[in-house]
Amino acid sequence: MAGDLKRIKRHSYVLNAILLFISMIYGAGGLRTTELRIMPRVVQRGRNVTMACLYELQDYGIYSVKWYKGTQEFYRYSPLENPTTRVLPVNGIKVDRLRSNETHVVILRVVASLSGNYSCEVIQNAPSYPHYMASARLDVVGVGGLRATDLRISPPVVQRGNDTTLACLYELTDAPLYSVKWYRGRHEFYRYSPTENPTTKIFPFAGINVDLARSNQSQVVLTRVSFGLSGNFSCEVTADAPSFATSIVSNTMEVVALPPSLPTIQTSQHYYIPGDVLRANCSSGPSRPPPDLAFFINDMPVTPGTHQVHPAPEGLFRSELYVQIQLWPAHYERGAPILRCQSKIGDLYRDDAAVALYSGNSDPKIERVTSPGSASNLQVCQFLLLIHIIVWANNT
Ligand SMILES: *[C@@H]1O[C@H](CO)[C@@H](O)[C@H](O)[C@H]1NC(C)=O
Ligand SMILES: *[C@@H]1O[C@H](CO)[C@@H](O)[C@H](O)[C@H]1NC(C)=O
Ligand SMILES: *[C@@H]1O[C@H](CO)[C@@H](O)[C@H](O)[C@H]1NC(C)=O
Ligand SMILES: *[C@@H]1O[C@H](CO)[C@@H](O)[C@H](O)[C@H]1NC(C)=O
Ligand SMILES: *[C@@H]1O[C@H](CO)[C@@H](O)[C@H](O)[C@H]1NC(C)=O
Ligand SMILES: *[C@@H]1O[C@H](CO)[C@@H](O)[C@H](O)[C@H]1NC(C)=O
Ligand SMILES: *[C@@H]1O[C@H](CO)[C@@H](O)[C@H](O)[C@H]1NC(C)=O
Repeated sequence: MAGDLKRIKRHSYVLNAILLFISMIYGAGGLRTTELRIMPRVVQRGRNVTMACLYELQDYGIYSVKWYKGTQEFYRYSPLENPTTRVLPVNGIKVDRLRSNETHVVILRVVASLSGNYSCEVIQNAPSYPHYMASARLDVVGVGGLRATDLRISPPVVQRGNDTTLACLYELTDAPLYSVKWYRGRHEFYRYSPTENPTTKIFPFAGINVDLARSNQSQVVLTRVSFGLSGNFSCEVTADAPSFATSIVSNTMEVVALPPSLPTIQTSQHYYIPGDVLRANCSSGPSRPPPDLAFFINDMPVTPGTHQVHPAPEGLFRSELYVQIQLWPAHYERGAPILRCQSKIGDLYRDDAAVALYSGNSDPKIERVTSPGSASNLQVCQFLLLIHIIVWANNT
């Protein structure tokens, strides 16, 4: 009985996998192209917007079509319900119910806060309710038909000496561009004005090197960045006459230097036996910002001791972590305990160093591999080799 059930389950897995495979080739369960078209995509506030969800069904009918602003649903069409359409309250969205249907939604008198990501989700009336989603962006612009939407910095966290690109995203509908000005803090360093000759202008700022060949009306490339550039950048867009409307967006950039080497571990003794108190330091190589350090014994975190940050040359820092812990027989259950120090800077950098805490000459096989002096400062590849040897030694 249980075996039958298992077999059925396995069959349905296989079936699902085949269906998934087919749907990947032919579009979700016979659903052809889905696209969300917003008309107009950039609109002045107070006007009406029509959104069209374009889909073409093949095998099954529609179960429902759901419309979202971001993650909030604001309109739903379900042919099996009565009434078939439903408006869900979302701040600022006024749906024209009479002109909305299974494929179109009309939003009346849009306000600035309606700028953003919209999606339509088409759910089919088939056994597993296959569904498909399409998204598009609406930008509601103000006076002069202008709105700067984003200052995109890539990468936003950049290594000292590397390049970074700042892209100013803006929408301009009713007038031509007058200028785009770029600031670090309040200091303008680059300007693009299409009506002037030359169209680009650089204002000197200590540490900023603009690569003119790769900069234009929508982006500026900075080369050989230094620590002093970390901070707030802005781009200010101005529309031409008659409005000369302006719009500004900002974002931050951070210049970093990663440690050039693994952290190093120092222990108070060469050998430890259960009952000993282990005192150990872990130090990082020079970097900026200083890394976070953490100790582990046999991969269990050790209660943190003192953490210190020391200045190093060239504006860099070294981190140091000190721990003190009593060693118990349990630490030795699988041979010499492994003390590991992890060095980490956000999601940007991670390195580990590890040492084995031997109990004297009790295991000569291992002592031959790592001479007593170097036993307290091991690097990762040696560490992996060591684990192999420990396993091998335990098995013989
Ligand atoms: C928006 O739609 C409403 C209702 O259909 C209409 O009365 C109004 O004139 C439209 N507004 C614009 C700016 O087209
Ligand atoms: C849905 O409404 C749009 C405009 O609001 C119209 O163009 C379209 O033909 C309508 N579709 C159906 C199936 O009624
Ligand atoms: C827009 O929203 C959809 C659904 O929430 C999401 O899958 C998509 O990644 C979003 N797109 C952007 C550009 O944020
Ligand atoms: C900096 O540039 C070097 C060489 O081009 C590259 O390997 C490295 O990944 C870059 N670092 C960052 C953080 O972008
Ligand atoms: C600006 O330069 C970048 C990179 O060369 C290019 O991708 C982009 O299309 C240019 N933008 C304009 C408006 O010319
Ligand atoms: C960045 O600069 C802009 C323009 O000077 C300012 O409006 C904004 O508040 C600043 N942002 C931060 C996080 O300092
Ligand atoms: C760890 O560092 C502290 C402060 O630098 C020092 O006093 C101590 O002796 C060091 N301990 C070991 C085991 O190296």
